Amino acid sequence: MIDPKIVEEIKIRNPIEDVMAQYASLRRAGSNLICSCPFHSEKTPSCTVFVARQSFYCFGCGAGGDVISLVRRAEGLEYTEALEYLGRRVGIDVIDSDSDAPRFDKRRFYEMNKAAARFFRDILFNDPAGAMGREYAERRGLTPEVIKHFGLGFAPDSFSALYSHLKDLGYGDDEMNAAFLVGKSSKTGRPFDMFRKRLMFPIIDVSGNIIAFGGRIVDDSDSRKYLNSSDTPVFRKRKNLYALRYAKNFCAEKMILCEGYMDVIALHSAGFENAVATLGTAITPDQARLMAKYTKKVVICYDSDTAGKNAAEKAIKLISETGTETSVLNVTGAKDPDEFIKKFGAPAFSKLIGESKSKFRFTLDSILSKYDVTETDGKVRALSEICKMLAVVYSSAERDIYTREIAEELGVKPEAIEADTKKLIRKMDRERRNNEREEALRSVSGIGDRVNPDFVSNVAAANTEEQLIALLLLKQENRDLVLKNPDMLSPDDFITDFGKRIFELIIKSDDFSETELGAHLNVDEMSRLEQMKLKRFELTENGEKEFIGLAAALRAEKRKKSMSEGELSAAQLAEYFSTMNKKI
Ligand code: UTP
Ligand code: MN
Repeated sequence: MIDPKIVEEIKIRNPIEDVMAQYASLRRAGSNLICSCPFHSEKTPSCTVFVARQSFYCFGCGAGGDVISLVRRAEGLEYTEALEYLGRRVGIDVIDSDSDAPRFDKRRFYEMNKAAARFFRDILFNDPAGAMGREYAERRGLTPEVIKHFGLGFAPDSFSALYSHLKDLGYGDDEMNAAFLVGKSSKTGRPFDMFRKRLMFPIIDVSGNIIAFGGRIVDDSDSRKYLNSSDTPVFRKRKNLYALRYAKNFCAEKMILCEGYMDVIALHSAGFENAVATLGTAITPDQARLMAKYTKKVVICYDSDTAGKNAAEKAIKLISETGTETSVLNVTGAKDPDEFIKKFGAPAFSKLIGESKSKFRFTLDSILSKYDVTETDGKVRALSEICKMLAVVYSSAERDIYTREIAEELGVKPEAIEADTKKLIRKMDRERRNNEREEALRSVSGIGDRVNPDFVSNVAAANTEEQLIALLLLKQENRDLVLKNPDMLSPDDFITDFGKRIFELIIKSDDFSETELGAHLNVDEMSRLEQMKLKRFELTENGEKEFIGLAAALRAEKRKKSMSEGELSAAQLAEYFSTMNKKI
């Protein structure tokens, strides 16, 4: 457990509005702040930050909680990790006194990865086993300076050279395995090097720690061209970007997003040091948000094939959703940016960036390329898709400009396009309202309630439970009351497992602090508590009597339920025995 005093200190020094500002732009609304929810896509802001209570809640997706819950969700961290993160933010050391818990020491992983990177580099530069790597690096035009800058190396064609090396340095088999450096043969149980005969690209985080590797095969001995570390205790491939450590200092205005490590290296070498790449997966919402943190505009620079075009569409969508401007660069005459630079040089690439298409133009062109717009039929079908695109353009001024441009290009009246688009917008609004209504109905009836699956079959009781829990969290007096009168409300009075578990946590110790619930509950459960409190805030005006009434109502529900299940409560048994005794 972490010292509760430190936890409180960390919360005080990290106002939730400051931390939320890292993920969303806040707007004042009365005494609170509102923003577009960082946890789901939306056009109108439905996430509220309650400054006085230091909590947040999204009325759209139900995410909520205190600043620790916010960071857990936004950074994908566990409770303790989130505290460490917030501690680092304000210069407080978080010491976990529960040292028995098997936790990974991140620094040890960074050291181990660094040792591996050094090993790979020495082989590439000095070892006979690195001849293949040197040959390959030369063929791809990688100079010694570039190799050093990116920390490249070569994993030799050997069963366990790295394993032996790390073993000598004192690392254990389990650690090497967890770091994705060493695997274990399923037949013989022997440890083997994961990366063999590959040019190695260390993945380095913004603080300079080596967190993972990508490796490219240098011949065709493996069908997997690139092998990337899977997620490890220090690596989430969906949350990092290649070369961001360098690019972060050059990308305030513009960032270039490419597909491959080699593209990034070629671009940096040619002077475009604002280039980054994803790590062997399609772009994720986390990566889009990460880019938005560092830049105003992302130039998407994917391969020129169909796969690259489709990937670009997805990237446009995710990046735009963070409010960041996007444009798409069309790599002509080469398959990817790496090849382009090698063929045509840096100035030609600069020119390409200048000609990069706006998000609108890119989408429009990809629609137009699908139809023969010289024919009526093709034109009609293209226009119907174009209206769909226009319908989701939020600003009406922007929509107007695009509408005129398209009308002119296709030789139709702008009014016609406008009318069709408006019709579509109305239809989409209707659908959205219906969806919201369904969603609300679902949540009221408890269908699909993952946090409290028992809710749906005990609606009345579960509602009472939620009121009790909210009141216990909102008012210290209520908790004191229960602690003094354990007969009034006990865990066994609760019907849903979730309610019971929360109640037990609340009354477990005298010096309960709500913050610490986070150590036992996941982020969805924490969000639910926030929702319970919000819904019942007005109940705090009620006094002791109302609380006792609610407790009695829950006990009555429980009794009813036990009887219907043919089981007698303790009180009923007592009554039964007392009548029996009288009879005897
Ligand atoms: P590419 O196949 O376009 O690779 O994949 P590249 O960067 O142009 O590399 P070269 O020029 O062929 O050496 C782009 C990215 O997709 C991932 C890698 O991250 C790669 O950089 N990838 C590709 C894989 O993860 N696995 C693969 O088998 C292939
Ligand atoms: Mn490529």
